Amino acid sequence: MAGAAAKGKSRPAEGRVRHLPTVWYPLLRPALFALDPERAHRIALEAFRLAGRGYRTGAATAPVECMGLHFPNRLGLAAGFDKNATAVDGLGRLGFGFIEVGTVTPRPQAGQPRPRLFRLPATGALVNRLGFPNDGAEAVAARLRHRRYRGIVGINIGKNAATPLERAVDDYVLALRLLGGVADYVAINVSSPNTPALRELQARAHLEPLLSALLAERLRLGRRHLPLLLKISPDLTAPELAEIAALVRTLPLEGVIATNTTLGRAGLDVAVPAGGLSGRPLKALARGVVSALRSLLGPDFTIIGVGGVDSGAAALDLRRAGADLVALYTGLVYRGPALVRDALRALGDGERASE
Ligand SMILES: Cc1cc2nc3c(=O)[nH]c(=O)nc-3n(C[C@H](O)[C@H](O)[C@H](O)COP(=O)(O)O)c2cc1C
Repeated sequence: MAGAAAKGKSRPAEGRVRHLPTVWYPLLRPALFALDPERAHRIALEAFRLAGRGYRTGAATAPVECMGLHFPNRLGLAAGFDKNATAVDGLGRLGFGFIEVGTVTPRPQAGQPRPRLFRLPATGALVNRLGFPNDGAEAVAARLRHRRYRGIVGINIGKNAATPLERAVDDYVLALRLLGGVADYVAINVSSPNTPALRELQARAHLEPLLSALLAERLRLGRRHLPLLLKISPDLTAPELAEIAALVRTLPLEGVIATNTTLGRAGLDVAVPAGGLSGRPLKALARGVVSALRSLLGPDFTIIGVGGVDSGAAALDLRRAGADLVALYTGLVYRGPALVRDALRALGDGERASE
């Protein structure tokens, strides 16, 4: 079992962190951006998979205890980048304290028809309507059993597109059963805009039975400690957010991930394809949700802040809005490994400044 939780809280430092160098990305980016976005992503993932072969464990940069887990630092890679956990070791070399793989569904599926991933370089954004293409829970679990990355690995779970909403609970429970043994935490994704009706699961009538079933399955799994977090949309109204927070507060759930991509297009004056928008235009929205959520949840729940982190300052902003941990995706596509370095530095400095 690869969980950092299982290895105890006092893992010793094991020498210098071997982060990948940051200088090559600005040179490589024009070539990658000349390619179709999905092709470029496949190439990048393959490069990280190969880089992972040289993985060496490193000293934690700014370790933190959260949800009873030992995080080497507060910065993570958000779900969707390494959906199938093929490159966790190489991505770990960028310096992330945690990596969330997935979304993984119980059975493999192809996702939506192409094209389904678009860059908006002038706005530092991406639009995707991938619809959870993934290898399925068993394949991903098998891969994660062999990982060498010593940070925290979260697994983001969802339902298969072919499963009707009334049977969604069965899919989530099965995914948790198949993946719970290799995850440090599990993220319950009810907020991706590209699986029809998925976001309806955020309504209390669906959410309460879903979360209850997952909490019961966690007990059945008998894992000593497996935090569960709910990943929410930035497009919830204030009353919807309050209702979700009220429900979360009554349950033994560990936290919330805020936010997924937005269907909103506020402030964009260019034609934008249909799908979930991420990156810079999401920054203020995600920050607002994190801040509101912290007020609603109080101090006892973990919040992972995600959305529009494109600089160290933006990472620190989410932290100051109330996030315990911060994750990113789109910023990595535009800025490469230098962003990880900047965000780690900012979060570390912010920590020291508030001590
Ligand atoms: C191409 C792409 C694929 C994504 N796939 C997933 C996914 O499978 N599951 C999920 O929960 N979030 C997914 N996300 C959302 C991200 O995890 C994140 O919540 C969102 O992009 C906001 O962060 P960012 O602005 O740093 O990208 C995806 C985002 C992108 C850009």
